[in-house]
Amino acid sequence: MGQVLSRFNIHLHTRMNQYENNLIPIHYKCRNCGIPCDKSKSTTTCVNAKYTRTGTKEQPLVNRTVVPDNKVRWSTSYDYHPVEFTSEKVKSSTKEYVDRDPRFDLSVTIPWNQDDRGCDRRSYHGMYKIVGRVPQNPCGRTGITGRGHLGHFGPNHAADPIVTRWKRDANNQIVMHPTTQKPILQFVCILRKDTREYAIPGGMVEKKEKVTDTLQREFHEETLNFPDMNERDKQRLLATIKDVFENGGIRIYCGYVDDPRNTDNSWMETTAYNFHDGSNEHLALINVHGGSDALSAFWHDLGSETPLYASHAEFLKKVADIHLAHW
Ligand code: BGC
Repeated sequence: MGQVLSRFNIHLHTRMNQYENNLIPIHYKCRNCGIPCDKSKSTTTCVNAKYTRTGTKEQPLVNRTVVPDNKVRWSTSYDYHPVEFTSEKVKSSTKEYVDRDPRFDLSVTIPWNQDDRGCDRRSYHGMYKIVGRVPQNPCGRTGITGRGHLGHFGPNHAADPIVTRWKRDANNQIVMHPTTQKPILQFVCILRKDTREYAIPGGMVEKKEKVTDTLQREFHEETLNFPDMNERDKQRLLATIKDVFENGGIRIYCGYVDDPRNTDNSWMETTAYNFHDGSNEHLALINVHGGSDALSAFWHDLGSETPLYASHAEFLKKVADIHLAHW
């Protein structure tokens, strides 16, 4: 397996070195590039200008300051005037895992770049810089300072289970794509409640939780419910899912995500694992249903034509490459 993974430039060690850090591609979905970059949308500004979930009755509109492509990296000089935004919900939260703001309260000290009693503040991209008492986004400028909707300064960790099977016809034969002549994979996909985009059913790693537990918990919460199953079959299926999730995954990615909630001081990082049932034995047989943050959940064909949330299309492309499937 190691050979297969290295062929596709996938590394299984946990932290990336400085060299890889410099290779983080520039972000688009958390930045206002200043021009109408998505030709399919009838807008005169960048489609990512508006900070996610603002412009509603509860949350006044927040527009990101323009950061052109060649001004993203902190190493380029730029007459930069970002907007400050942390949502009221985050600011007034008293939850233990929501940070207090060290810029406004000098008594707050946070152990940056460390595993802070079960809340992992380390980045997959090595040590991040602390500027003005808060972390600096390792990918560069986003047009917004503060935390937006994110609870932590620095990295906010998520985990993404990519559950796949082969697409099969009525005779159980694997379906080939008419153009590429490659077999078609299907993955468990959700429709997100917040942005109404298709996505992998991932979620945030909770305090003191292991990534492997988050993968299972999120998959259960967002995609599984068993309306027509008796208790015995349900328990049997759950035990199989647990076993596959604990023993059968391939790590596809870990690191920075081009997430629309990122700011100059807070950003999303994820660990994505692929759990593949190639012979229709266990995961492939699951009937998925939406729950929690998902409006709906379903098996969806893998292919470059489906627009997806954040960087999820890149993860799925790697999965297609590994299984020599259609993309
Ligand atoms: C989502 C994950 C996603 C992560 C980073 C989480 O809220 O549930 O699927 O990868 O954010 O964008």
